[in-house]
Amino acid sequence: MHFPQDFVWGVATASYQIEGAFNEDGRGESIWDRFSKTPGKVLNGDNGDIACDHYHRYKQDIALTKELGVDSYRFSLSWPRILPEGTGAVNHTGLDFYKRVIEELLSRGVAPAVTLYHWDLPQVLEDKGGWLNRDIAKYFRDYAMIVFEGLGDVVSSWITLNEPWCSAFLGYGNGEHAPGMRDFPAHFTAAHHLLLGHGLALQGYRELNLPAGIGITLNLTPQYPVSQDPRDLAASQKADGFQNRWYLDPIFKGSYPEDMVDYLAFVDGAVQAGDLELISKPNDFLGINFYSRTLISADAGGLPRTENPRRDVTAMGWEVYPEALYDLLIRVHQDYGPISLYITENGAAYDDAVEHGRIKDSRRREYLEKHFAQAARAIRAGVPLKGYYVWSLLDNFEWAFGYDRRFGIVYVDFATQERIFKDSAFWYQSFLRKRGGLSW
Ligand code: FCB
Repeated sequence: MHFPQDFVWGVATASYQIEGAFNEDGRGESIWDRFSKTPGKVLNGDNGDIACDHYHRYKQDIALTKELGVDSYRFSLSWPRILPEGTGAVNHTGLDFYKRVIEELLSRGVAPAVTLYHWDLPQVLEDKGGWLNRDIAKYFRDYAMIVFEGLGDVVSSWITLNEPWCSAFLGYGNGEHAPGMRDFPAHFTAAHHLLLGHGLALQGYRELNLPAGIGITLNLTPQYPVSQDPRDLAASQKADGFQNRWYLDPIFKGSYPEDMVDYLAFVDGAVQAGDLELISKPNDFLGINFYSRTLISADAGGLPRTENPRRDVTAMGWEVYPEALYDLLIRVHQDYGPISLYITENGAAYDDAVEHGRIKDSRRREYLEKHFAQAARAIRAGVPLKGYYVWSLLDNFEWAFGYDRRFGIVYVDFATQERIFKDSAFWYQSFLRKRGGLSW
């Protein structure tokens, strides 16, 4: 496997999934606090009140990034920790927490990659309609500007939004995520306002002339037709439009996909003059979160139907299909390039067991190794892939699955908050140590 010398290797986390301290130092309520405490929404009734207690243990956790030997650490900021009311007065204790995190990273030579929004919207803003309210794009820009001005001289790269498809569809379309709304047509409005918020924040950032690069992270899931039957091909094309192109096209082409005629009607009322110009302003990079692919057939009405995976699956039930990462990178580069790409998340959940203090997670290690190999293959084919963040540094609160799904390369014992390197962490560490060596 060959990677360029300046390739950025990292690990990633997100605020609500690790921080805990849900009501400390002036933090406001987020939609995930509210949602996770609504009976029946999260497996086992889990919530992020304590999570990995990272708010109090950040020094220890950052020491882990150093021990692994990564170049960069991707984490997200909690909007309600910085702006408890969503807008207006800044909670300086909250902002200072992130300053301390960044100082700690920089003192250890690890570059901070900061995501502004990884799903924990202030509940007060949800009470005003959340992402369905057009004003939210402006609120997001105001929050972003406070953060850019407060942290802009020390952050290495910025990501505005994490996975707007999830915020929009899972949050407002099928209700699996906070705020738990089930309104399929309305979720296209939420998606548009997310993209608009991205565009406004990006525009504001450019005015500040800060040195760090800025981009957005999309969860892209290739949709493979189950056969070459034209009906299956058409269904997979439609699934791709929904899952991938609905976000890629406005960002890179300034338009929603024209073949998605019925969905275009849903977003029509939300799009105002000038929106798409703003949304399609150039980014410095695109972040891609990749986990798996989907196999699609056509149902009786010709609509996409998700087929069961044919090969091995992770504890999430997601198929392990590393070749899809290669196909995806090539496709994004060809259809939307040239732009620098980063894998901002990739990893796997498995049922880990601690045996005599050791976690033999060979399947996670193999998953990572095979995906790294596909990334190297894409680079060889000319794709400007610049970095790769493993999801996740720590086992954490896996949204609707609570603490039941472990994605960490470092094990967390949630009863004691002990951290233990899994075998995959030792493997990643030795992989990183070989850099510059002959075997690289
Ligand atoms: C992604 C999320 C991340 C994590 C992984 C498994 O969709 O961005 O927070 O939950 O999935």
